[in-house]
Amino acid sequence: MRPTADYAVIGGTGVYTAGQLEHLQVYEEMTEYGHAQAMIGEIRGKRVAFLPRHGLKHQTPPHLVNYRANIRLLQLLGVQKAVATAAVGSLRKTLRPGQLVLLTDFLDFTRTRPATFYEEGRVVHIDMSDPYCQTVRSSLDVTAKQENLDVIPSSTYVCTEGPRFETPAEIRYFAQIGGDVVGMTSVPEVVLAKEAGICYASIGIVTNFAAGISTQPLTHEEVVTTMSENIERVRKLMERWIEE
Ligand code: HPA
Repeated sequence: MRPTADYAVIGGTGVYTAGQLEHLQVYEEMTEYGHAQAMIGEIRGKRVAFLPRHGLKHQTPPHLVNYRANIRLLQLLGVQKAVATAAVGSLRKTLRPGQLVLLTDFLDFTRTRPATFYEEGRVVHIDMSDPYCQTVRSSLDVTAKQENLDVIPSSTYVCTEGPRFETPAEIRYFAQIGGDVVGMTSVPEVVLAKEAGICYASIGIVTNFAAGISTQPLTHEEVVTTMSENIERVRKLMERWIEE
């Protein structure tokens, strides 16, 4: 029998374990979009699904993640509210590594990803005036204040196709057109969550200054190291949010 969950945490780069989840059960399903896997457990009696976006061993790169299977699985589990983590590069000198930001808007530069559940036969244009769910964002913001965690309440996320990092010219351009942070995964995840009726928000963890802002070459190791140095605050924020 398929288990149920009210909340979901989608763990990005550097977030591979389910933290405080009790009575943990691994659940996998072959959805109509492909295979997806989550760990399901409880935090203070609340049913939570933890879904590591890149797989349990971080084996799937951002452009090959099966976003549709992942979100469909959460929908099938009955998830109402979800928070995703996202490692991001900073496009602004004032946004330093270690800073937490809530994503509020996005610019989509992805190219090859299936980005909708609506295919031939149904013409649906989903509203994107407020892509990241306001209800979850506000409660994360309130929780962060209560816990004395410094979280910037709004930011525009630029989603690139990856898996390569950006060029300095791309980063200058993204900053000029209004981006604050850059990453490779929030689109189409946020779009699919909206189509699936899941109230979805995302916490960005600034892991580096983007190409050209930093004078050093950028490596995946740098991203993972900064993530691991800052992940405890993100975990705390998500757990308090679920406990509320
Ligand atoms: N660019 C794209 N994705 C990222 C970055 C970056 O600088 N840092 C973490 N994820």
